[in-house]
Amino acid sequence: MVSYKELGLVNSREIFKQAMAGKYAIAAFNFNNMEQMQAIVSAAVECKSPVILQVSSGARKYANQTLLRYMAQGAVEYAKELGLNVPIVLHLDHGDTFELCKSCIEMGFSSVMIDGSHHSYEDNIALTKKVVDYAHQFDVTVEGELGVLAGVEDEVSAEHHTYTRPEEVEDFLARTGVDSLAISIGTSHGANKFKPEQCTRNAEGLLVPPPLRFDILEEIEKRIPGFPIVLHGASSVPQDKVAIINEYGGKLKDAIGIPEDQLRRAATSAVCKINIDSDGRLAMTAAVREVLALQPQEFDPRKYLGPARDSLRELYKHKIVDVLGSANTVK
Ligand code: G3H
Ligand code: 13P
Ligand code: ZN
Repeated sequence: MVSYKELGLVNSREIFKQAMAGKYAIAAFNFNNMEQMQAIVSAAVECKSPVILQVSSGARKYANQTLLRYMAQGAVEYAKELGLNVPIVLHLDHGDTFELCKSCIEMGFSSVMIDGSHHSYEDNIALTKKVVDYAHQFDVTVEGELGVLAGVEDEVSAEHHTYTRPEEVEDFLARTGVDSLAISIGTSHGANKFKPEQCTRNAEGLLVPPPLRFDILEEIEKRIPGFPIVLHGASSVPQDKVAIINEYGGKLKDAIGIPEDQLRRAATSAVCKINIDSDGRLAMTAAVREVLALQPQEFDPRKYLGPARDSLRELYKHKIVDVLGSANTVK
């Protein structure tokens, strides 16, 4: 058993408290490899912002759980070397069993999500409470989820979303003891969040998706004032990245995300954590495709992973500064 505290990581409690008071949100970026980790940490340091390094069970399988743990430990040292010891949370994304959460806590994670949203309400409560009771012994924070997002949620896929029912949140919090709550208000996972026929066109002819259900968010805020809310599925699917991917041989169709102004608005509310994975995938893929298409003689991975890492860092900085608003909150 290794405690995250020995690794220099922090849990999410204090940074969420500050985010709530300062009306901003903390970015949770998924990582699976070294370049993504470097881009996340360097962006957070440059922006003087806390950050959440997020690991899915798919990432654990891909990269090896031990390596990921040491990479997160390295991330703390890397931030210091870059000049600022920004708070870094190592968080399990979409944990689906008690055993997975326990294993992550034993390996040094400072925060876990137990996603019981696909179970019945009572089973979700029982599973979440079991994880909370275990995690809190080690001062590890726990994110629960109420409501179901459409799209693929870490190997669990749902065709339609079920909005969070505000009337359930107080009972859920009281009976589980979770530290934060992921809700469903119209976001979804992946790069195809809406069908074009669900969207309208603006004056420039661009597709505008239906707005998020801020009425549900406000109702939830009223019932649990000051409690940290989490938004999953919050990629905006930048159309310039989609265009580069498709120009250089990609085949992304109807890729539509959540407009950034909607996320900006959410970040000023009780939403303290915003999850972004797909936008990073798009930025990386666009950069790799462009290099390989324009410089076909290159075969050194550094020549395409380097630009991919640079592009990711710029994307993350943009999110932190312009969308989440957490820049310059670390002195
Ligand atoms: O919500 C899911 C995240 O984007 C992680 O995706 O399971 O493919 O690693 P993944
Ligand atoms: P996106 O697919 O919109 O990036 O969402 C990521 C996420 O919610 C990870 O848990
Ligand atoms: Zn998610």
